[in-house]
Amino acid sequence: MGLQKEYIEAGRITKDVRKWLIGFVKPGMKCIELCEAVESKIKELGGVPAFPCGIGVNHVTAHYSPRSEDTTEFTEEDVVKIDFGVHVMGFLADTAVTVTFNERYYSLLEATQKALDESINTARKDQRAGEIGRTISSIASKYGFKVIENLSGHTVERYTVHAGKSIPNVYVPNLPVIRKDEVFAIEPFLTTRDGAGYVVEQKEETIFSIVGRRKTKQKRLDEFIDAVWDSRRTLPFSPRWFERDFGDVERILKELVRMRVARAYPTLVEGAGKPVAQFEHTVAFQDGSLVVLT
Ligand code: CO
Repeated sequence: MGLQKEYIEAGRITKDVRKWLIGFVKPGMKCIELCEAVESKIKELGGVPAFPCGIGVNHVTAHYSPRSEDTTEFTEEDVVKIDFGVHVMGFLADTAVTVTFNERYYSLLEATQKALDESINTARKDQRAGEIGRTISSIASKYGFKVIENLSGHTVERYTVHAGKSIPNVYVPNLPVIRKDEVFAIEPFLTTRDGAGYVVEQKEETIFSIVGRRKTKQKRLDEFIDAVWDSRRTLPFSPRWFERDFGDVERILKELVRMRVARAYPTLVEGAGKPVAQFEHTVAFQDGSLVVLT
């Protein structure tokens, strides 16, 4: 079976957004402004965000999407990761880029991009996922950087961003083989030599998803679940997207997480507070060779 055309379409939109983004990002921008611009661009090009656009400044590594009241601006000193995805009918493409205007981190970005490119160029079908991690970590150490060991790429499935298999950023033995019909994201995260090389969870939560559609016997909560389910199914969402229709989103979400109807994704930061770079592509095997969808 060939790749569904929706994967190709989601990938094409992602590619166009990334191209536009590189010229759009400027120091002095607010994180929220950048985030919302990416999400709007996705829609303008005919897609839907697969998850809230992530903006990770310096040590903020993953799962942070600005709240509407976030007034943080990034400067030319910063390393800024922009992680976004597009879905078309639930078929999704996930990508990330890092930008910096700080010369000190040019080589960190270069190494991370190289790790992604090399892992794509050397990937073979019927290879164990751990081999991709081996390539990534060997490039990182060649440049004198560290890999974030507890973050990994992942297979994607319809309406599921992180499906069953992990694509690690370090060598891990005995992981499953990637099958020829699987779509997966490779996403190396690198930090400086004095970094911890792993991420830790912070209290802050800005990204949520519905675990399953369930009645709670509370009208307000049920209305919220219906609204999220209609537009997102189990895909992650930002409270920002529902503020206009539900003023008290934060309270509703607190309740739903407590009832385990929703789950929250805590913000992940570098363990030693060092800057992290990330590049990501979604790929799939076609006729035996790896095709970059994004
Ligand atoms: Co990803």
